Amino acid sequence: MTADRMIAVEGVSKRYGSIQAVDDLSFEVRRGEVVGFLGPNGAGKTTTMRMLTGFIPPTDGTIRMAGHDVFRDGRAARSAVGYLPETPPLYPEMTVRGFLGFVASIKDVKRSDRRDSVDRALERCGLTEVRKRIIGQLSKGFRQRVGLAQAIVHEPQVLVLDEPTVGLDPIQIREIRDLILGLAAPDQGREQQTVILSTHILPEVEALCQRVVLIDRGRKSLDRSLADLTAGGDRLEDVFARVTSADAAETEPRGRV
Ligand SMILES: Nc1ncnc2c1ncn2[C@@H]1O[C@H](COP(=O)(O)OP(=O)(O)O)[C@@H](O)[C@H]1O
Ligand SMILES: [Mg+2]
Repeated sequence: MTADRMIAVEGVSKRYGSIQAVDDLSFEVRRGEVVGFLGPNGAGKTTTMRMLTGFIPPTDGTIRMAGHDVFRDGRAARSAVGYLPETPPLYPEMTVRGFLGFVASIKDVKRSDRRDSVDRALERCGLTEVRKRIIGQLSKGFRQRVGLAQAIVHEPQVLVLDEPTVGLDPIQIREIRDLILGLAAPDQGREQQTVILSTHILPEVEALCQRVVLIDRGRKSLDRSLADLTAGGDRLEDVFARVTSADAAETEPRGRV
């Protein structure tokens, strides 16, 4: 195991009753990589991300985050990871700053460091001006910034972002995309951030990611660098159409026979 492997997924499966949501999935993400995790609806992206972040256990296989086994060493693994879930658990009645302070405390940020950590997350996510506002009164784009801020407030080594721009308008999409680019970039002596993000938006992949892992009905169907994928002049859209089952969005994943 090299110290450079920040995400190591080995033979991971997840079954829900008869539904095989994730099927013998293996992939790695190295330190400083930004990887796009793609696949049609129902492919198993969210399920995989929930396993990476320790929210649900795999049925089979092992996951290490920043070198920590997510289930044997859950606390260390979780503190190494920042997670923006599909539906971020925001507390609509809290102020932005109050909420981030609360998250910092649950994420074990030392009391003496909390104020600085929160101020830094506010600043990095463009929230300083709205820090005293009630979350429920913010626009969707700003609420998504709060979602990102809660993911980074403890300065995790790995970021797991589940469809970070879903449901936003084009302007907000661009703002969030730029924000993610900024969060991923080396900053104030910090190295490039390791990120895995799921998305449906191909320009987003091209703008943000160096590599693509594509899953289809719970199985990995592609794992290539973006440079490789587009080297032959292929459009990403066409590459993905070739490796994705045509009716994947309309059919259930393989059941168990
Ligand atoms: N808690 C659950 N119980 C039963 N089935 C689930 C559950 N969560 C997800 N699934 C099923 O697992 C499959 C993968 O879902 P999901 O991981 O949400 O896909 P994606 O995020 O790629 O759209 C889908 O068929 C979905 O219906
Ligand atoms: Mg999903």
